[in-house]
Amino acid sequence: MTIISGFSKFSHKQRLAFLVAHSDLNDQQALRLNDFSAPKEDQQRLLGEMVENYIGNFPLPMGVVTNMVINDESYSVPFVTEESSVIAAASKAAKFWAERGGFHAQIESITKKGQVHFSWNGNPEIIHELFPEIKRILTDSTLEITDKMRKRGGGITDIQLLDKTNELPCYYQIDLSFETANAMGANFINTCLEKIASVLQNLSELNNEETKVEIIMSILSNYNPDCRVICWVECPVEKLSGWNKNLSYNSFAAKFKQSVDIANLDISRAVTHNKGIFNGIDAVLLATGNDYRATAAGAHAYASRRGKYKGLTTVIVTEQTFRYELEIPLAIGTVGGITQIHPTVKNVMAILKYPDAKKLMMIAAASGLANNFAAIASLISTGIQTGHMKMHLSNILNQLVTTDTERELANTYFSDKTVSNSAVNDFILSLRSGI
Ligand code: MEV
Repeated sequence: MTIISGFSKFSHKQRLAFLVAHSDLNDQQALRLNDFSAPKEDQQRLLGEMVENYIGNFPLPMGVVTNMVINDESYSVPFVTEESSVIAAASKAAKFWAERGGFHAQIESITKKGQVHFSWNGNPEIIHELFPEIKRILTDSTLEITDKMRKRGGGITDIQLLDKTNELPCYYQIDLSFETANAMGANFINTCLEKIASVLQNLSELNNEETKVEIIMSILSNYNPDCRVICWVECPVEKLSGWNKNLSYNSFAAKFKQSVDIANLDISRAVTHNKGIFNGIDAVLLATGNDYRATAAGAHAYASRRGKYKGLTTVIVTEQTFRYELEIPLAIGTVGGITQIHPTVKNVMAILKYPDAKKLMMIAAASGLANNFAAIASLISTGIQTGHMKMHLSNILNQLVTTDTERELANTYFSDKTVSNSAVNDFILSLRSGI
């Protein structure tokens, strides 16, 4: 495994050449990534047909996090984000951990869920008694629409009747579990649920009694606690000394643990702690065309699973070892949706060496853990503003509509000074007024 240094100093051409050499990106795809002009006509049509009332494209920058080692395999991970310093922070953490064995990850399961919500005003005992037979009929009714998915190793794996009448009068769910192979599976799941709902409705109508099933709604759930990845880093405590020279490894480990403890006990900190995780995860999900709103909703609910919202990470520090872990549900895919249509997503998949859904879950989790580790490591040592504002300097200069010369002078001047909006403003004003 080669660890790359100085990637940020590479020219744009050198960066693409590196990706062509170290991933599945080919020269042709690299050329397309390099193309800053308006999308080609065929791409334009694809984008225009993805949404309704289309009026144009909205570019966001994409960068790459280098040295991401996961289960001994090296990745360059494309991040799409509007926030300065996210990619720099993840890259710093990725390199730090690549030199200490990298990230480790394992998938707990990829089971996803969906429910048919319905009401039934009859005797609950009757529906419970009839359910085994109803379940057989419902399963049979979906065989045609699950055929392709079953051939890919997926399908409906469980159907349960949940009696919720104690919480809402007459309210039940048919709760289904799905395996959707490499797809996030939203369309597959919703199609199955709507089929099941209509068969259930018909069954009830055939039954000539006064009691009837009333379908309320049928929809996948974005709460998929079983579809989970565990990702961790681990090293001897003394190896932590590499992050900040002003903090001993023991102090680093102790303060790091305190900061994770705080995220577990205080909601104000927990939300920000978890946002830092999503800095990495969302950047990967955007780049790979995945539904980042679904994963965020599910993960925040998971963070509250014990009745209190907490940080999604845990840390164990012993005399010898530091271990830091993220456990997070991520229902994402590498086929379906726009993952195989969007022109840039296709190139991103090549850079990631065409991962399957499980690998992409690991890559996203490692990216989240990298960003979160970098954030905490900075917060307990230098603070984040020095690094953040250094990366944000170019945005401030662009807002002030500076010339090339002004930018060059500002970059030199601020290379060893604290960047702030007002300091940069004053500096440019002084240049312009010749002071
Ligand atoms: C900023 O985008 C993310 C952080 O606020 C995360 C954190 O506080 O852990 C730095």
